[in-house]
Amino acid sequence: MVSTDSSGVPRHIACVMDGNGRWAQQQGLPRIEGHKQGEHALFEAVEGALELGVEWLTVYAFSTENWRRPADEVKFLINFNEDILLRRQQELHDRGVQIRFVGRRDWRVPKRLIKRMNEATELTKDNTKLVFTIAFNYGGQAEIVDAVKQLITEGVPADKVDEKAIASRLYDPQMPPVDLMVRTSGEYRISNFLLWELAYSELYFTETLWPDFTRDHLHQAVADFQQRARRYGGV
Ligand code: FPP
Repeated sequence: MVSTDSSGVPRHIACVMDGNGRWAQQQGLPRIEGHKQGEHALFEAVEGALELGVEWLTVYAFSTENWRRPADEVKFLINFNEDILLRRQQELHDRGVQIRFVGRRDWRVPKRLIKRMNEATELTKDNTKLVFTIAFNYGGQAEIVDAVKQLITEGVPADKVDEKAIASRLYDPQMPPVDLMVRTSGEYRISNFLLWELAYSELYFTETLWPDFTRDHLHQAVADFQQRARRYGGV
């Protein structure tokens, strides 16, 4: 059983929603059907986080590397993200969820999607139950590169560059370190997700494919997390 006392609950959980394509393949369906089914799992994760009193939930919706996928899948994923936002932002708002985004807003991200992102963030900005962050066109190395570029642009001298200086220039300086990273589908990789924020995260891997993920799986991951001793480099 998961204890929901605030001391044992991870403050920030990050999810790599992996295995949509394989789920679809197993069902004899096109890959995009796996992504569609992934929407249900995503909202299960949100509900699970709300139930547990998790403060921050961050999910990897589209990576800087995902542009390499076949053009029709890329197109689908972009439209799908926009579609989910439109259809479900009100529901998230009603649940007290704040919606944020991290990632590069470069020329590849359609203007219309950026507009939707800003609208969702604006609508939900005062909500306090859960900060739900969607990593879109996100890469962990790119995030650090962008922070370093900003330091240089600001003319920060080398001896003033420390962890705090970098952390305060990441895409969302308010984002706390990740306590628990969950990756589905039996892949044991970080895949360029939240590299800086994951520094001391506990890692949890499950064979479950993302479309089959439920709030119970999230509870299980948290129960596992609560068995671990976090030492942050100490003894
Ligand atoms: C990985 O499965 C999943 C993705 C690249 C996208 C997941 C996106 C969603 C569920 C929608 C998110 C939308 C919002 C608004 C948060 P995969 O295709 O890599 O699966 P595979 O490894 O089996 O091929």
